[in-house]
Amino acid sequence: MSEPSESADIVIVGTGHGGAQAAISLRQRGAEGRIVMIGRDTAPPYERPPLSKEYLAGDKAFERILIRPEKFWADKGVELKLGAAVAAVDGAAHQITLSDGSTIGYRKLIWAGGGDPRRLACPGAGLKGVFYVRDKSDADAMMDALSAGAKRAVVIGGGYIGLEAAAVLRKLDCAVTVVETQNRVLARVAGETLSRFYEDEHRQHGVDLRLSTGVSQILGDGGKVARVALDTGEEIACDMVIVGIGIVPSIAPLIAAGAAASNGVDVDFCCRTTLDDVYAIGDCAAHANPFADQAVIRLESVQNANDMANTVAKAIMGEKEPYEALPWFWSNQYDLKLQTAGLNLGFDQAITRGDPATRKFTIVYMKEGRPIAFDCVGTMKDYVQGRKLLESRPDKIDPALLADPETPLKELL
Ligand code: APR
Repeated sequence: MSEPSESADIVIVGTGHGGAQAAISLRQRGAEGRIVMIGRDTAPPYERPPLSKEYLAGDKAFERILIRPEKFWADKGVELKLGAAVAAVDGAAHQITLSDGSTIGYRKLIWAGGGDPRRLACPGAGLKGVFYVRDKSDADAMMDALSAGAKRAVVIGGGYIGLEAAAVLRKLDCAVTVVETQNRVLARVAGETLSRFYEDEHRQHGVDLRLSTGVSQILGDGGKVARVALDTGEEIACDMVIVGIGIVPSIAPLIAAGAAASNGVDVDFCCRTTLDDVYAIGDCAAHANPFADQAVIRLESVQNANDMANTVAKAIMGEKEPYEALPWFWSNQYDLKLQTAGLNLGFDQAITRGDPATRKFTIVYMKEGRPIAFDCVGTMKDYVQGRKLLESRPDKIDPALLADPETPLKELL
């Protein structure tokens, strides 16, 4: 085993929400050694959700989405190695190798590698004008295409990324077609009522929604996208294609190092992987979640990244507390604000509280008579009170009370 080129007390891989919060939280808790944060991105840590919302729309400048002002990191003694990728982890030697061949030794390693956008596999997927939404550079490339005059977009994938991008593009007056393989949008994350509500909204805003169909190929003209061919044989002319078909956890070096992994790298109650002194947090961490009856899941959210980062910082500083934060998430589309609390995994009943036609309503997901999650559209009070209700681990509640918007959720606590 050769000596590493350099050593740090704590090495953090990833400069997204999880990596950034881990460094912040460690320093807040008095961590004193050298902290090095490594990221493929060339920009200092920034918020990801605005990339498919305000940043893409041009409503928020990059400086306003920085997680901390750039000088914060130097002030706190957090060294950023940007534009650098980790090629290998040697768990026994406690060192990582970067793709330029340099090595860094660590006492503790925090893997906050997130995920890479799942790539479209059909012919033509590599044409100019095909975009993904994950990093600032992706959003910048899309904004450049729009400034250069792109006016017709095909969005592939009707998840949050695709729908948020569609809403921004309509605001920018682009013609938008959304193509989704499932028979409804948001099928992975929401029940049917919410899906149908958002489908109506998008149609009313002029989006052409194509459900239950995939894309067979993208056709180009001079190396640039010109048409998208659907499984149905129909072709849609366009200037740009935006792909939001999910993410693949970015964990290859950990798996190669022998870490146990399933759908993501396996972590225990305080986010330890099976490799000594290696933790994993955020989108890539498969964990038993108390709000999903301890099912092993990955959560792709800012909440999960931040809360896991705090769990790890505490564990490293000697306070081993289990990760048991309430999951929450949000999505902005047009003037609608959706806030979700809890996890609807395995729900057996969905109650609509309020009238979707008013564009203010809540969906309560139930399992065996207990509420397990809330989707709140423009119902901030329900969201705030619903969170408290879920945190109290409620027993059975009369569905009629939950369905009545006049009964505040706090009264059901
Ligand atoms: N063609 C069309 N649709 C597809 C295809 C395909 N080839 N493959 C998948 N889809 C659809 C899925 O059915 C799903 O509805 O794309 C959608 C992807 O949705 P998500 O898995 O939720 O992923 P995405 O919207 O890309 O979001 C990725 O970013 O905002 C975060 O929390 C979000 O972590 C998530 C991530």
